[in-house]
Amino acid sequence: MEGLQIELVENGREMPMDLLLLADPSAEMISEYIHDCRVFIASLNGAMVACYALLPIDEILMEIKNIAVAERYQGKGIGALLIKDAIETAKNLGYKKIRIGTGNSSIGQLQLYQKLGFIQREVIKGFFQKNYPEPIVENGIECVDMIVLERNV
Ligand code: COA
Repeated sequence: MEGLQIELVENGREMPMDLLLLADPSAEMISEYIHDCRVFIASLNGAMVACYALLPIDEILMEIKNIAVAERYQGKGIGALLIKDAIETAKNLGYKKIRIGTGNSSIGQLQLYQKLGFIQREVIKGFFQKNYPEPIVENGIECVDMIVLERNV
């Protein structure tokens, strides 16, 4: 997308909490992983519109821990661009695989990730019921399990 700039958040800089909370409703959960992540912010004409966070799992595997596009910018292809950027970043850093976890109720996300070559690898049963105090409901479906998808970079 023309004019979209993606930049690493330098150490010590403020995290884009409003965006991060769109993808993960628990500030407590975010605080547990975000400081171990490389966080990238996408801006359009100076306005922050999206972000993603990468967490190394081991020497070959990188995880996208959080990805979010501000509501009014959703559905314009920015999410797909960020996923492609995350794949490229993981590759340039020497990782071989990348994974992302999402809820069983996140139909649009499951579609997006599979369209971009991610394949379902694992189901973490009861993850969202166990880790989130309030029930999460999307698309009329309760979010219970985490679906983990993975691809080579
Ligand atoms: N319903 C159906 N399909 C959807 C969808 C939705 N709500 N959101 C994304 N998709 C799919 C479509 O297949 C779409 O392809 P198409 O444009 O050819 O139809 C594809 O994703 C690309 O969409 P794109 O415009 O690049 O997505 P986006 O910029 O809206 O970003 C998210 C996708 C998920 C990052 C964004 O919607 C978002 O921030 N959502 C809230 C936070 C979140 O859920 N983060 C992910 C947690 S796992």
